[in-house]
Amino acid sequence: MGDIGFPTAAMSETRPPAKNKIFLGTFVHSKTLSELEYLHNAAVAVDSLGTIVAISPDTDIAKAKSTLLPQLNWPSDDTDMVVAKAGQFFFPGFIDTHLHASQYPNVGLFGNSTLLDWLNTYTFPLEASLSSLAKAQKVYSRVIRKTLSHGTTTAAYYATIDVPATNLLADLCLSSGQRALIGRVCMDQLGPSYYLDESPAESLAKTKQCIDHVLSKDPKMELITPIITPRFAPACSAPLMKELGQLAKETDLPVQTHISENKNEIALVASLFPDAGDSYAEVYDTFGLLTPRTILAHAVHLTEKEADLVTERKSKVSHCPCSNSAITSGAARVRWLLDKGIEVGLGTDMSGGYSPSVLEAARHAVLVSRHICMDEGKSEERDKLSVEEVLYLATRGGAKVVGMEDKIGGLEVGMEWDAQLVGLHEVDEEEGEEGNVDVFGWESWEEKIAKWVYNGDDRNTKKVWVRGRLVHERK
Ligand code: GUN
Ligand code: FE
Repeated sequence: MGDIGFPTAAMSETRPPAKNKIFLGTFVHSKTLSELEYLHNAAVAVDSLGTIVAISPDTDIAKAKSTLLPQLNWPSDDTDMVVAKAGQFFFPGFIDTHLHASQYPNVGLFGNSTLLDWLNTYTFPLEASLSSLAKAQKVYSRVIRKTLSHGTTTAAYYATIDVPATNLLADLCLSSGQRALIGRVCMDQLGPSYYLDESPAESLAKTKQCIDHVLSKDPKMELITPIITPRFAPACSAPLMKELGQLAKETDLPVQTHISENKNEIALVASLFPDAGDSYAEVYDTFGLLTPRTILAHAVHLTEKEADLVTERKSKVSHCPCSNSAITSGAARVRWLLDKGIEVGLGTDMSGGYSPSVLEAARHAVLVSRHICMDEGKSEERDKLSVEEVLYLATRGGAKVVGMEDKIGGLEVGMEWDAQLVGLHEVDEEEGEEGNVDVFGWESWEEKIAKWVYNGDDRNTKKVWVRGRLVHERK
């Protein structure tokens, strides 16, 4: 595809010139946590800047040309019409609120490890090796292509501790058109000697270099946003966390880190920071790292008091069910977090998680919630998450977690067109790809969506747009 490739000087624009577009067909998005909205035979008009400017019900291509275009004052020869075929629908792009771009080569490689030995055995060596920019280029290009092909239009990325490699990830997101938060990993302890920031001062300086780089490429943070990234408390000294908390305050930039993922990790935090509060959450709070723009990944073993503190600080949670199961971290109680009023999104957490797909994370979130339900004595029927709820977490919930709920996560006038065209296999249709999701024709739309969530994958992701720009097309 013409507009996907490696960055060049000409491609450092955040937005290439684009035409106005009218999308026609069925549109599905979350109305509330538990309810999807279906718009059939509708038209959505997206201007050349990628903003949704009109949503028109009962509009086919003829009516769009005769009525909608004149209303918008758009010449028809300057407007692309994108019509969904039978069995296809438009859906908001997925938001992956937590993934390590640098760990992509290791997806599926975790053996029987748990967090702390997994980090030492698999993760730190791979991340360190990406100081080779050729290797970083290969890995980051693939991870962006891969996640886009699975419908991920926004990703909150951890890169590595390396400044040039982190900046390269930002450049590649910009040229590929994926919306992203880009974090240079800060860690000045716990890691092997060959993979550590040398001091809090160096860690802070390198973080600022990466922030400056992103802002030099995208000053208005239209597509990419720098994110302050203390890896997790055990890998950050108290002075480093203090500096980063201060930086978050000065810049009002988002923050991402891990919290309460694994029991040995929690014990390690307690032993490392005896003077910084009584819990993992309080350690972060002590250093000013629990902000309304903080994304806390995992939150598996939070106590009642910690969850209340997270609620009070309005920090967000990235639920990473594939990772939590794969490296045996535990089952995060999403219903409980939501009941506390905490905003929750989904994260693949590659490569603690084995899959680049947010859809996979969504169905795994459903299954984990059922395991919680089966945990007798501790839980109730309502701990189960529904298909509608996990799709909300994958879109609207994720948008809140990354602080972009006014722009993305739904299909509404004023929002940006970050969307995917999903196609299921209609058994009766001759043409088209053999289906992994077979639709026989008698299913309701609710049933089609459920079949997609449980059996869908990138074969169903036909096209993907970010800010109105086509960024992936399945050939
Ligand atoms: N905690 C600290 N670093 C990591 C990481 O890379 N992945 C996961 N899942 N947890 C972490
Ligand atoms: Fe992680």
